[in-house]
Amino acid sequence: MKKLLALVLALVMVLAAASALADYKIAFSQIGQESDWRTANTDSIKAAIEGHEGWELIYDDAQQKQENQIKALRNFITQGVDYILFTGVVETGWEEVLKEVNDEGIPLILIDRMPDCMDKIDYAAAFGGDFVEEGRRQVAWAGEYLKSVGRGEEEVNVAIMEGTTGAGAQVGRTEGNLAAMADYPNLKLVAQNTGNFTRAEGQALMESWLKSIDKIDVLIAQNDDMALGAIDAIKAAGKVPGKDIIIVGCDSVKAAFDAIVAGEMNATIECTPLYGPFVVDAIEKLIAGETLGKELIHPVEGVYDMDGGIDCGNGAVSVKAADVINERQY
Ligand code: AHR
Repeated sequence: MKKLLALVLALVMVLAAASALADYKIAFSQIGQESDWRTANTDSIKAAIEGHEGWELIYDDAQQKQENQIKALRNFITQGVDYILFTGVVETGWEEVLKEVNDEGIPLILIDRMPDCMDKIDYAAAFGGDFVEEGRRQVAWAGEYLKSVGRGEEEVNVAIMEGTTGAGAQVGRTEGNLAAMADYPNLKLVAQNTGNFTRAEGQALMESWLKSIDKIDVLIAQNDDMALGAIDAIKAAGKVPGKDIIIVGCDSVKAAFDAIVAGEMNATIECTPLYGPFVVDAIEKLIAGETLGKELIHPVEGVYDMDGGIDCGNGAVSVKAADVINERQY
């Protein structure tokens, strides 16, 4: 027993020494683990920071609560971290705490969901998806696909399953969804509600829609997890997903590719979670004394579906998911 205690003590001391020796402490305030996308995002950033010599990651999972994120940011300040990576569960309510980060002179790197106070705070770099364009592509894919199968003039009922209310991804994708609906007069909005970006809530919402709405022809789900939950509900109701109801997701996670290849989902719009390499590059540049621009950098993202070849506009032509499924990293 004594030997074991001595061993544990030695290990604790080695770990403490290693931590004290880290050249840079990089803190990451993550919003939670609501989706496959989020897991891939956490993994990408953890692997990139922890795999870098001399860097230590201080990670906090806020469990979808803004108050937890605010507490985590203040803890990071108290711990004297060198850099903070931040994505906000919702867009509003960050100005005070982010100004506190600024006052301490800790460089802030914004990833994924941007706060609405970007023009009032200092930040060193910003990387995130183009949510409005992703939402536009979802509806454009549906409109163009219907044209391609001779249904461009048919009145088609559309349900929009939104993400977490107030999140940048929900606000932007809804704006893009609704703007694109105006380009396709045959698309008629019959339902619009939140599934909170989770599979379980996507399933529950679809169950309730199938009971209360006569006919849904197209489901626009603002992430793949909700689309996958909806597929379970559609099957349970005795309908055929991908045929009776056309399903367009967002994120392009591996499980959505599997569903598309199985014929149960029609398309997914890419939103990459793989920000680890972006963040490492940014921090290395900042350490080297470079300044990065204020511009929000969007990664290049694609559109994937059953057969490929649907032109969604803005240079986005869909690629057949089965052709690239083996290359998916998340
Ligand atoms: O902010 C990105 C979104 O958040 C992803 O689309 C979604 O899956 C996640 O939960």
